[in-house]
Amino acid sequence: MSENNLPRHIAIIMDGNGRWAKSHGLTRIRGHIRGVESVREITTACAEKHLEQLTLYAFSKDNWSRPKYEVAILMRLLRRYLVRERPTIVDNNIRFTVIGQIEGLPKNIQKEISVNIEESKSNTGMILCLALNYGGRAEIVDAARRIAADVAEGRVSVGDIDEDVFKHHLYTADMSDPDLLIRTGGDMRVSNFLLWEISYSELWVTPVCWPDFRKENLEEAIKDYGKRERRYGGLIE
Ligand code: IPE
Ligand code: IPE
Ligand code: MG
Repeated sequence: MSENNLPRHIAIIMDGNGRWAKSHGLTRIRGHIRGVESVREITTACAEKHLEQLTLYAFSKDNWSRPKYEVAILMRLLRRYLVRERPTIVDNNIRFTVIGQIEGLPKNIQKEISVNIEESKSNTGMILCLALNYGGRAEIVDAARRIAADVAEGRVSVGDIDEDVFKHHLYTADMSDPDLLIRTGGDMRVSNFLLWEISYSELWVTPVCWPDFRKENLEEAIKDYGKRERRYGGLIE
């Protein structure tokens, strides 16, 4: 496979923690705990491949509808992850960032996010972006609100609003679109993830649940991506 065929940006819907746990006779929480190990392995593997960006769907706006107990544990695991992953971020020259309605997260998590962003801001390697309290429709609505405010204050005129202006009001304003979208757990859906940005992403769904997803599975997805022909609606001679 030539280097040209490596995706620059991979986004992952990390799904199947609960099903993995159930199939092992464990509580859903054990699945989430094991899932953190996959995050660490995949992040390191992507950084070693010099990917430009890895975006991980970690908590959706709709996940608040889960039982209180599970949400509380997910928040506790997230906080612990943010603190414990600092060495991985530093060792791999990773720049940490987030997308989503961060202001809607508990204050202690917002604080740890700020520390990770601040401590990694001069790193020059891969961008690791966590989607937290994220919803694709909410992102589009938030962009529309920001554009409306710009119009109201005379910074943008209605006639100037085009796809490029819109893109620059999204949470992902300064990011490239994902080349490859991976979903673990086998469900063939996008679950409100990066709706604008995945317009032309290549999709790869595996039945492997997230806690079992390892470097080899990532390699398989990347290899498959390398064989794809991306046409963007055009024709390739
Ligand atoms: C993904 O695993 C983790 C989050 C959504 C936070 P799930 O918890 O959705 O696991 P399944 O889909 O129920 O197996
Ligand atoms: C998508 O998984 C969200 C994350 C991986 C954070 P879900 O488990 O929430 O999605 P659905 O409910 O299967 O669509
Ligand atoms: Mg799920």
